[in-house]
Amino acid sequence: MGLAANLRILAVLLCLAAAPPPVSANSLKTFTAKYGAFDDNTLFATTPASLIGRDALQVTPDTISDIINLTNQSGRVLLKQPFKLWKGPNNNSSSSDRVASFNSSFLINIFRINNNPAGEGLAFVLVPDTNLPNNSSGQYLGLTNSTTDGLASNRLIAVEFDTFKQDYDPDDNHVGLNINSVESKKAESLNQSGIQLSPTGAKFYNVWVEYDGVKKTIQVYIIEQPEKDGATPPRPDSPVLEEALDLRGVVDQISYFGFSASTGNTIELNCVLRWNLTVEYFSDDNGPLIKILLGVGLPAVAVAVAAAVAVAYYRRRKKRSMPINILGALKSLPGTPREFEFKDLKKATNNFDEKNKLGQGGYGVVYKGLLQNEGLEVAVKWFSRGDLKDQGDFLAELMIINRLRHKHLVRLLGWCHKNGKLLLVYDYMPNGSLDMHLFSDSNSKPLSWNLRYNIISGAASALHYLHNEYDQRVVHRDLKASNIMLDSNFNARLGDFGLARALDTEKTSYTEAEGVLGTMGYIAPECFHMGKATQQSDIYAFGAVLLEVVCGLRPGTKVGGFQFLVDWVWYLHREGRLLDAVDKRLGEEYVVEEAERVLLLGLACSHPIASERPQTQAIVQIISGSVAVPHVPPFKPAFVWPSMPMGLEDISQATTTMTNTTSFSISTSNFGTGSTSQYVSRDSNFNLV
Ligand SMILES: *[C@@H]1O[C@H](CO)[C@@H](O)[C@H](O)[C@H]1NC(C)=O
Ligand SMILES: *[C@@H]1O[C@H](CO)[C@@H](O)[C@H](O)[C@H]1NC(C)=O
Ligand SMILES: *[C@@H]1O[C@H](CO)[C@@H](O)[C@H](O)[C@H]1NC(C)=O
Ligand SMILES: *[C@@H]1O[C@H](CO)[C@@H](O)[C@H](O)[C@H]1NC(C)=O
Ligand SMILES: *[C@@H]1O[C@H](CO)[C@@H](O)[C@H](O)[C@H]1NC(C)=O
Ligand SMILES: *[C@@H]1O[C@H](CO)[C@@H](O)[C@H](O)[C@H]1NC(C)=O
Ligand SMILES: *[C@@H]1O[C@H](CO)[C@@H](O)[C@H](O)[C@H]1NC(C)=O
Ligand SMILES: *[C@@H]1O[C@H](CO)[C@@H](O)[C@H](O)[C@H]1NC(C)=O
Ligand SMILES: *[C@@H]1O[C@H](CO)[C@@H](O)[C@H](O)[C@H]1NC(C)=O
Ligand SMILES: *[C@@H]1O[C@H](CO)[C@@H](O)[C@H](O)[C@H]1NC(C)=O
Repeated sequence: MGLAANLRILAVLLCLAAAPPPVSANSLKTFTAKYGAFDDNTLFATTPASLIGRDALQVTPDTISDIINLTNQSGRVLLKQPFKLWKGPNNNSSSSDRVASFNSSFLINIFRINNNPAGEGLAFVLVPDTNLPNNSSGQYLGLTNSTTDGLASNRLIAVEFDTFKQDYDPDDNHVGLNINSVESKKAESLNQSGIQLSPTGAKFYNVWVEYDGVKKTIQVYIIEQPEKDGATPPRPDSPVLEEALDLRGVVDQISYFGFSASTGNTIELNCVLRWNLTVEYFSDDNGPLIKILLGVGLPAVAVAVAAAVAVAYYRRRKKRSMPINILGALKSLPGTPREFEFKDLKKATNNFDEKNKLGQGGYGVVYKGLLQNEGLEVAVKWFSRGDLKDQGDFLAELMIINRLRHKHLVRLLGWCHKNGKLLLVYDYMPNGSLDMHLFSDSNSKPLSWNLRYNIISGAASALHYLHNEYDQRVVHRDLKASNIMLDSNFNARLGDFGLARALDTEKTSYTEAEGVLGTMGYIAPECFHMGKATQQSDIYAFGAVLLEVVCGLRPGTKVGGFQFLVDWVWYLHREGRLLDAVDKRLGEEYVVEEAERVLLLGLACSHPIASERPQTQAIVQIISGSVAVPHVPPFKPAFVWPSMPMGLEDISQATTTMTNTTSFSISTSNFGTGSTSQYVSRDSNFNLV
């Protein structure tokens, strides 16, 4: 899979950076993006009922449970970045008659369940904001509601794919152009094209919506795509719908692109599986690239770094040069990670000498190196390429990591990317990783209590930072003692944060753990169901680290007749002899009150129900002693899925739902040919997805 297949953040940046020369004097530009796996939902604004999961935009829910109902739902998923569609200071500028053109092509699946009648429809939209009107289900398609339908103040256009006949509709299988109303300005039945939008069984349709801002026409094309993952068929020659349309006077000058959908008494799943978007847009003349990027909501340094990565990457691939001023601006930013030459890293590590090997992790091998010119010791991580899902992913992830600066995170100095080789250069951590010290052979001196407490405290503050950084919260995903590095003063430095996502999800540390029982204890129970790391699953892993630091035992240690360390500690807590858990090698050399605090906190973080775990803010306060440890019940609570009540965050994360009774999880996006739905019950061995 190449860059083109899987673009996401980096891709957007790349495309912006690589936009062709402006059409008219430095103001009309082109944005291009191709979205496929949709596993970076930071690019999209979603309304509560929508979610991004199973490699698709699920514009209305695809999961049923006691709390999620497929009937009477509505949702929108929009690209967070809006576009300026014509020039001039106001809506009616006569300085140019030019309106931005756009082309949008997407693969959709509108799935009706159990062959029941479908309803109501899915639409491609251009809207003024990311809000969903109240009561926009049923006939309103997530576009309007009974109060607002038809009002010019809606300022929206939509191309609807309607599967439910209202009085004003031609039938229950049509495409329509909607302007401020769900009553289409023009509608065409798809029967004569041999297309049934929501047939029995899953069908995939590729749609093209093309707007010509010179001629001011909109055209819609549609064709069946036999296989979800197959090649996109060529666009048909004739549109199924064509209409004159001047966007000015209808939509806002600055508008958002995306999708909306609804269900009513009858239901369907509304999925978008691929989306290509090319939009011309007008940018203000005096703030080209950086300003646009900031529109995506990234801080300047991150943007600059990302652009640098993108530019470097792009240049490698396409040998096309970038405007000098952008590169110049990037170079002048202090402290930003930089690109290294492979030959320099080779030299620094003595040709990746086995003797310089510091360790080998899931993602590759780490070597110690010495950068001759700077006299700087570094750790060079060479990623084994087979593990990488996509280089674009990797670099996108790198971009996020680059933004993060904290004294308890391992500092990233730069990267190197050459001929498929991917290397990251970090600060060298002279004291290795925490596990090396906790589990070193019995001869060596055990890590002192003060150091342990200090490490816990540092790691907690780093995790708090990750979870609360900027608008986009970062999940570590692979917290464990071997990822907590120690600097020369034995301060904790988290490493490897966020990287799991850049790797094939099948191969993240969760499933990787199968072969390595020791890491099993770090994985929160819900992860086996959601297959997805969350902040709460990070907290669970942190709890496992807390216990292991105090007990000096790995989370997967069989102890006291228990399979996992946490169960033993919970037992000791119940028996009123919690301190028996403290690492014997410490003897009496520890602070009783602190040890109790950390053990109880470790148990609280290990709560099987994700929503019951403390958050990082509380964890930091508890460790500092400013807040009391939460009450820990004597028996470990049972795991219930989903935990009730489910917060919005959980809903947006959960792709599969399990309740006390039964629930269905249905995904059209994942349908190959055969499977249609999954029936899951509490007794079914938790064997999901
Ligand atoms: C879900 O929809 C059904 C009808 O299909 C309705 O009877 C039920 O009350 C709804 N549940 C909720 C929680 O809205
Ligand atoms: C365009 O006009 C609408 C309503 O007339 C107004 O709400 C909107 O803010 C205007 N946009 C600009 C950019 O002036
Ligand atoms: C803007 O143009 C539209 C039609 O193009 C017109 O109806 C409207 O009155 C104009 N508004 C102003 C403020 O000129
Ligand atoms: C949209 O597609 C048409 C047909 O392929 C092409 O002529 C036009 O230039 C495209 N417009 C944009 C904005 O890419
Ligand atoms: C998006 O564009 C790529 C080529 O750039 C093409 O292979 C793919 O089929 C397109 N996808 C859709 C949904 O149109
Ligand atoms: C329709 O949506 C608007 C906001 O977009 C809201 O103010 C109004 O109350 C809604 N009408 C109904 C019937 O919910
Ligand atoms: C939608 O309804 C809720 C409560 O019913 C209200 O708080 C909210 O302001 C409404 N939103 C709009 C846009 O009217
Ligand atoms: C939807 O409309 C109903 C009645 O029309 C109203 O009672 C309800 O509060 C509305 N819901 C929201 C979220 O506005
Ligand atoms: C198209 O076919 C559907 C289902 O066969 C039917 O309900 C509908 O009336 C047809 N539409 C037209 C315009 O004939
Ligand atoms: C869906 O909403 C409509 C209109 O508000 C209502 O009549 C109907 O009972 C609702 N259906 C369900 C299943 O809740």
